Amino acid sequence: MKPVEKLTMAEAKRELARLADEIAAHDRRYYQDDAPDVSDAEYDALRKRNAAIEARFPEQIRADSPSLRVGAKPSEKFTKVVHRVPMLSLDNAFDEEDVIDFAARVRRFLGTKDGDDLVFVAEPKIDGLSASLRFENGAFVQGATRGDGIEGEDVTTNLRTLRDVPLKLLGRAPDIVEVRGEVYMLHSDFAALNARQAEAGKPLFANPRNSAAGSLRQLDPAVTARRPLHFFAYAWGEMSRLPASSQFEMLERFKSWGFRVNPLVRRCRTTDELLEFYHDIETRRATLGYDIDGVVYKVDRLDLQERLGFVSRSPRWAVAHKFAAEQADTVLLDIDIQVGRTGKLAPVAKLKPVTVGGVVVQNATLHNEDEIARKDVRIGDTVVVQRAGDVIPQIVRVILEKRPKSARPYAFPHKCPACGSHAVREIDENTGKEDVDRRCTGGLICPAQAVERLRHFVSRNAFDIEGLGGTYIELFHGKRLIKEPADIFKLTEKPERVSKVLAEHRASLSTERRVREGKSEVISKATRDDNREDKVVDNLMRSIDARRTIALDRFINALGMRHVGETTGKLLARHFVTIEAFHEAMEGKEAVAELDSIGGVGEIVAGAIRDFFDEPHNRKAIEHLLKEVEVEPVASPRTAHSAVAGKTVVFTGSLEKMTRPEAKARAEVLGAKVAGSVSKKTDLVVAGPGAGSKLGEAGKLGVKVIDEDAWLKLIGEG
Ligand code: IVH
Repeated sequence: MKPVEKLTMAEAKRELARLADEIAAHDRRYYQDDAPDVSDAEYDALRKRNAAIEARFPEQIRADSPSLRVGAKPSEKFTKVVHRVPMLSLDNAFDEEDVIDFAARVRRFLGTKDGDDLVFVAEPKIDGLSASLRFENGAFVQGATRGDGIEGEDVTTNLRTLRDVPLKLLGRAPDIVEVRGEVYMLHSDFAALNARQAEAGKPLFANPRNSAAGSLRQLDPAVTARRPLHFFAYAWGEMSRLPASSQFEMLERFKSWGFRVNPLVRRCRTTDELLEFYHDIETRRATLGYDIDGVVYKVDRLDLQERLGFVSRSPRWAVAHKFAAEQADTVLLDIDIQVGRTGKLAPVAKLKPVTVGGVVVQNATLHNEDEIARKDVRIGDTVVVQRAGDVIPQIVRVILEKRPKSARPYAFPHKCPACGSHAVREIDENTGKEDVDRRCTGGLICPAQAVERLRHFVSRNAFDIEGLGGTYIELFHGKRLIKEPADIFKLTEKPERVSKVLAEHRASLSTERRVREGKSEVISKATRDDNREDKVVDNLMRSIDARRTIALDRFINALGMRHVGETTGKLLARHFVTIEAFHEAMEGKEAVAELDSIGGVGEIVAGAIRDFFDEPHNRKAIEHLLKEVEVEPVASPRTAHSAVAGKTVVFTGSLEKMTRPEAKARAEVLGAKVAGSVSKKTDLVVAGPGAGSKLGEAGKLGVKVIDEDAWLKLIGEG
């Protein structure tokens, strides 16, 4: 092992990461499983090395560093801490009038004359949980939750794992300092945490505040360490000496000691400025990256704060101006399934309209089938709706006490509501778990997916029909001229109808433009445009006709099966050679096994293809299409002249000039299909010495049998 003095920064970083993992694993085995697998001496050596590296590279200390964790077994309960100065709460103001009243009250109490300055500090009100951090002689000695304001819980070890909590105060500070502020979680970290929870099959947190609270109040500090929590300082408790004379300067002091103070804090001189701050913060709320639930106004001068004092449990010198509630209760009227452009079935809650955060909400997302089951959401339930910034409203939970007797669990449809095709959940090959989303398999005919699919169908690597992409597909689909791919080729039978649709479309466009530009009619253009229409239709018909023959790989790609693009299209085309063989194989029972045997085609792809062909609508759409177009067998340079292209061959007995896998591979390169058993579909049996029942079967079915030499001659290698 490299001596610590020789480590580079990068090496140190890597080793600290490894040590954190390793020591955590030992801790788990020791404390939770009661089954340590290293000696105490070995364990101590790991911790010592970790400490030595951290001493040399203090900036590399990790949030989950073992040195920030006590080695003792986590206590069953947190010990209680009595706050030396109570942690109070704030009075609320719900509208501008309340704010004006607050300022007037303060002025009255202080006897401030009109025109005399009264400065306030305005701060965002962070929606987390408050904590008090005690420092003695500059060192962090104790951290506590607010609790009931008089007595909180000792969460010192957990708070030590927060990067925003300095373990030592920077610069000069009073001997005793209690800094108070808010522990909170970023939206991004909250989302990532919930994703991990979901992956592990654990319950999700309702919001960042709950998850911050749950993370801080963990009995195992190692868990807290893995949950990224932040801290903004905004108040204080006991202080052996006040280092400043105003709220604003106190915040400056906190910063100089190494704390984070909210960067939006501002000094305001009038009520108007306070309200301006409020509105400014409200508009920026969704982009802050963390939750706030209002703003706080505080009298800036500490001597005035002192004079104002407290009424019951709230200071007279501060008020919380809350944002309109972002949660509300309402009734779930129905669950609607919307089919996305990619076939995803998205459940949408239809709600009795309710105002949430100043906006009327009547739709909310229910995410997916599992979410509905997990939250046990039933039609008729009273639910809590939440709207956070710009995001789609969500259903937080059900209020079970209000559940009507008639409410039944929701049965998520297994058929696509847009087209009636099967809707399936894929299995992830790596995890073996079902995908959370259910998807419609009727890609070719599903109206919800149609435009997207049709666009793909005519795109360059598929049918490559010039002039049809973009707006025309959407237009023709909207006018019901094209419902499924085959309809594209039927357009050539009705040029007048196409011409009319295009003319109408252009007329509406130009009206729109004229209205937009405030212009009056321009009649003289009409005749010229008629000619242009004919030309457009003419060209369109020509490019459609030009694509009535297509190579198999492009054809397969054009179908737009899930997970099947250009590359897989080529693999499948090379394997099946003809559309007939492909189509037929997909209708058989062995479809998945056969697909799975193709190099480069995995289980997921095979499953998706099977799902596609399992859907009768899709098979119909292909049949319709095959009436319109001709699919050319793949003509690779080698298969073009191959005598065995498209033939189904069975090898039996032992081969002498090559191995069985080699024979199979060569046959396939030449476009032959190699099967494992003899059937009516078999064209040729290649039999070597020791051939058994397959030979008999071939005889019965009248299939041609040749030996290895004859085979080699046939493929031009003899
Ligand atoms: S000052 C004596 N400032 O709001 C007053 N509180 O409703 C101490 N809060 O318990 C609080 N942001 O958890 C203050 N900038 C801020 C705040 C803030 C969030 C929380 C705090 C407090 C609650 C009161």
